[in-house]
Parts: sequence; C-alpha cells; structure tokens
Amino acid sequence: MSRIAPSILSADFGLLADAVTAVAPEADLLHVDVMDGHFVPNLTIGPPVVKSLRSHTDLYFDCHLMVDNPGDFLDDFAAAGANGCSVHVEVGDVVPLFAEMRRLGLDVGLAVNPETPVEASLPYLADVDLLLMMTVHPGFGGQAFIADVMDKVKVAREEIDRRGLKVALQVDGGINEETAPVAAAAGADVFVAGSAIFHADDPLNAARRIRSAVA
Ligand code: DX5
Ligand code: ZN
Repeated sequence: MSRIAPSILSADFGLLADAVTAVAPEADLLHVDVMDGHFVPNLTIGPPVVKSLRSHTDLYFDCHLMVDNPGDFLDDFAAAGANGCSVHVEVGDVVPLFAEMRRLGLDVGLAVNPETPVEASLPYLADVDLLLMMTVHPGFGGQAFIADVMDKVKVAREEIDRRGLKVALQVDGGINEETAPVAAAAGADVFVAGSAIFHADDPLNAARRIRSAVA
C-alpha cells in the first residue's frame, strides 16, 4: 500500500506545528530533513525541533539524516521522539549505525544519492526497514525529479521482492501528482513530498491528490 510522507522542509518553520496538524489526516509519516552544512550545502533542523513537534502530533517521524556523522546524533533523535532514521550509504560504515538504531528502538533507513549506484545499497537490504532513493540531489526542496533514478528503483524493487523482504521503498525529491505515479510504476511505495504539499494553497488537498495519483 502506498504511503505519503509530507516533508516539513518546505513548511513555514515559524508555524511548524500548525503546518503539521493541517496535513496530518493525509500523512502516513512525517519526513524530517536534517542537514548539517557538510554532507549537503544547507543547514536545517535537529533534535530540539523534533522534540518540540513531538508534543503536537502522534505522527510517525521519519528523520532523513543528511549529515556526515549521523552516529553522533542517533541517541538525540531517539530521545527527541523520532520513530525511524535514515542514514546515507555515502557516509560509509553503516552497519554499526544500523546496530545503534536497533539498540535505540529506531526503525532503520538507508538513503542513496542519485549518482550512487543502487548496488551500493543491495548488500544491506536485509538489515533495513526502508530504502530511500533520492530523486533529486539532497540539500534543497523544490528541485526537479530525476527520472533516471527510476532504473535504480526498479532494480531495488525486484531485489526486495525476489528476496521476500519487507523493505519500504521511498522516493524523495520532486514528487508531485505527475511524478509520484511514475515512481509508483517503478516500484516505490513511500512518497516524500515537500514543496508539492506545503507550497500548495491547500496542503491537505495536495497530499490527498498525490495519494489518489498512486492509489
Ligand atoms: C531534499 C530533501 C527532500 C525535500 C524534498 O534534500 O531530502 O526531503 O524536502 O522536497 P521537494 O518535495 O520539494 O522536492
Ligand atoms: Zn528528505
């Protein structure tokens, strides 16, 4: 079943709790983009904001860690109320990070940049709950969907199914009513959308329309 994950990166950070509450009826997960100014050339939010939001919603917090040193922050995210964290395969040495996430009770996600071959993620498929295929270069909202990534999504889907794994396959970047069905056809089942939802006049309806497009 398809799931929708609004990304708060494109929400009004001054009114974050209100923005989250507004989309909650159509949100299966809340996607939280964490950026450190090193792994990506942008800075966003960290555990204190997750902690503050936690008291305003029961939504599942799906934290996407675009940071060089995720291991330094996993306990802080768990304590703040994160439900799952995704670390990037590009940071290297991910197995100890998975172990730490399990120890902390976090669901385990692995993220893959557009230019990284899908093969880099396949050895870890049995260890993760979620595989995040970036469909833009990480760092900023509002970029155009990179359709070439669909070849990687197809390979990941085939491998997940062939091995009978229960790994969610998430796409993130440039997802909207038009691109979500393209990603769904390739095998994605979790759709992150930031600007298509939070820059819409009616964010709740925008999320609903993306859901309808992949139903
Ligand atoms: C980009 C982030 C995405 C971002 C997507 O680095 O990982 O989650 O919020 O934003 P849109 O949907 O606007 O491409
Ligand atoms: Zn993200």
